Amino acid sequence: MKKKLIAGNWKMNGSLAANDALVRALIAGMGQPACDVAVAVPAPYLAQVAGIAAGSALALAAQDVSVHEAGAYTGETSAAMLKEFGVRYVLVGHSERRQYHGESDTVVAVKAQRALALGITPIVCVGETLAEREAGQTEVVVKRQLAAVIHLNGHCISEIVVAYEPVWAIGTGRTASPEQAQQVHAVLRAQLAAASEHADRIRLLYGGSMNAANAAQLLAQADIDGGLVGGAALKAQDFLQIIAAAQ
Ligand code: 13P
Repeated sequence: MKKKLIAGNWKMNGSLAANDALVRALIAGMGQPACDVAVAVPAPYLAQVAGIAAGSALALAAQDVSVHEAGAYTGETSAAMLKEFGVRYVLVGHSERRQYHGESDTVVAVKAQRALALGITPIVCVGETLAEREAGQTEVVVKRQLAAVIHLNGHCISEIVVAYEPVWAIGTGRTASPEQAQQVHAVLRAQLAAASEHADRIRLLYGGSMNAANAAQLLAQADIDGGLVGGAALKAQDFLQIIAAAQ
């Protein structure tokens, strides 16, 4: 059976002092968890968190990666640089990147490819806006977003993680119901199964206002293999309760 994955996305939050306290509390609190656990930290703090988490069960994740390998791309971080700091996972195509940085499905697919080439697991984020859901477009949107990644990455697709994050549930306190989330996860699983005979082992995470109170029900769904957690990942006790709910 595949292990669940609970990943925290700190977004643009943190400080040297706050990160130190949070990561130490997580490592002490989780011991040897039955699920995989990662935190996606802002790039300047990768080295700090890598140092504190060394030898622990807490894996390091980045929040973005460049589409370029190296060169004159001011402000970008390459997959090779992430690799040097022991990064195991990288978020690609988070809705905040799609929305505020104009990332297209193609850009997201290339980012996944760059990560895979360096042995870093891309966590490919997909999800519909409220307007798209209300227009009955949820399936079309998430399938289009995932199709671009499948198309470019072919048989490597079994090495990715997918996170379904409905945009209307992110940071709003409005979670998708377990049934709503499961319905979309089943669609994504079927799409992956058509592309890879190993689709069963691909972990599909749910993200969007997951918290200590609602995690267990979401994680009990057949095709929900973990969570991508924003706000609740900034509080050690909340994040530890979500990790406990995944066991
Ligand atoms: P919240 O858990 O704060 O809704 O954020 C979800 C998210 O965007 C994780 O990537």
